[in-house]
Amino acid sequence: MDLKPKHSASSLNIFSIMTSLAKKENAWNLSQGLPDYPIAPELADLLKEAVVEGYNQYPPMPGLKALRKNISIELNKKYQTDFCNTDVVTITPGATYSIFTALTSLINRGEEVIYLEPAFDCYLPAIEINGGVPVKVTLSAVDNFALDWQKIKEAISEKTKAILINTPHNPTGYIWTQEDWRQLALLIGEKDIFVLSDEVYDNIIFDGKKHNPGFLQPSLEGKVVSLYSFGKTFHITGWKIGYVVASEALTSAFRSVHQYLTFSVNSPAQYALARYLEMYNPLEAAYMLQKKRDLLIDELKKSRLTKLDTSEGSYFQLYDYSAISNLPDTDFAKWLTTEYKVATIPLSAFFRFPQNDKIVRLCFAKRDEVLIKAAEQLRKI
Ligand SMILES: Cc1ncc(COP(=O)(O)O)c(C=O)c1O
Repeated sequence: MDLKPKHSASSLNIFSIMTSLAKKENAWNLSQGLPDYPIAPELADLLKEAVVEGYNQYPPMPGLKALRKNISIELNKKYQTDFCNTDVVTITPGATYSIFTALTSLINRGEEVIYLEPAFDCYLPAIEINGGVPVKVTLSAVDNFALDWQKIKEAISEKTKAILINTPHNPTGYIWTQEDWRQLALLIGEKDIFVLSDEVYDNIIFDGKKHNPGFLQPSLEGKVVSLYSFGKTFHITGWKIGYVVASEALTSAFRSVHQYLTFSVNSPAQYALARYLEMYNPLEAAYMLQKKRDLLIDELKKSRLTKLDTSEGSYFQLYDYSAISNLPDTDFAKWLTTEYKVATIPLSAFFRFPQNDKIVRLCFAKRDEVLIKAAEQLRKI
């Protein structure tokens, strides 16, 4: 039987590997990006209520109207715009799905899609499975992974159909500025290039910084699909639910594929989230996670790990371990888990080929006592 691989990404998922190793070693787990603290009790109650109230059958294809409406109200208020309404918001089973479906909707076989490394692990396979040709721009650790506009310019060709970007960025925590968006718009100019903007950490922004959503960029009007995940904002990664915001034309292209890929999304979760959006404090996640970021950084000051740029958003912080070890990052991460009982993610997980950088990613969406215990272990090295 001819079972050709559909993509060139690794079949081993280092995120799952590190999580199982952490379990096996009974280690403090700062690896996978999943919170280990409970969700808001009101949200849990609303989910129960949804099931009891009978929200158990297929909801409408684009998502429950009440949820799309409340998302629109919230985004319009937050970004002082009137762009959002129920026709430009589509509920999805999470951002991974949204990236995949947006690519299926927008690109054709053989067209090029640019993405920037370090990159979230699903980008490359999503491009390839959809018949696209991945064009990677590798950002350099020496420059703290700063956006390299010259390299991005050189990556654009006649065949470029889309560029996939991520802000706030996993794993660096960098937030795209208005100037970054302006640079991208300048490069795209009149070309038919779409931007898939992965903004799953849009509500986890620190130090009073601002998130600049892709769908609102005036010089990229009609070209951007912004995608979001409730998993990150409400600490419900296992619910696998998010949404996409794009112009009506792009939304209609997206929905025409979405209709046949999944048709509709978990109904009780949509009901619960629609109600919860009316009562939650939008600044809460950022406030809580900023404190956790600061706690981790503070606790690690006396360790031999060297912090890279302080995370501006997301729930990750990068650390350089070259003062401790010469091991390649995956070996180092495994060694750290086994010998010092702290699990992290090697930065190579975000590159097509292993890098020589001696960097690991620490997730601080963890209970304070876990952060404190993990840091205590790390200070022993
Ligand atoms: C940058 C980025 N994009 C997308 C996702 C996936 O989001 P979801 O769980 O909603 O599919 C993640 C999850 O870690 C992420 O970090």
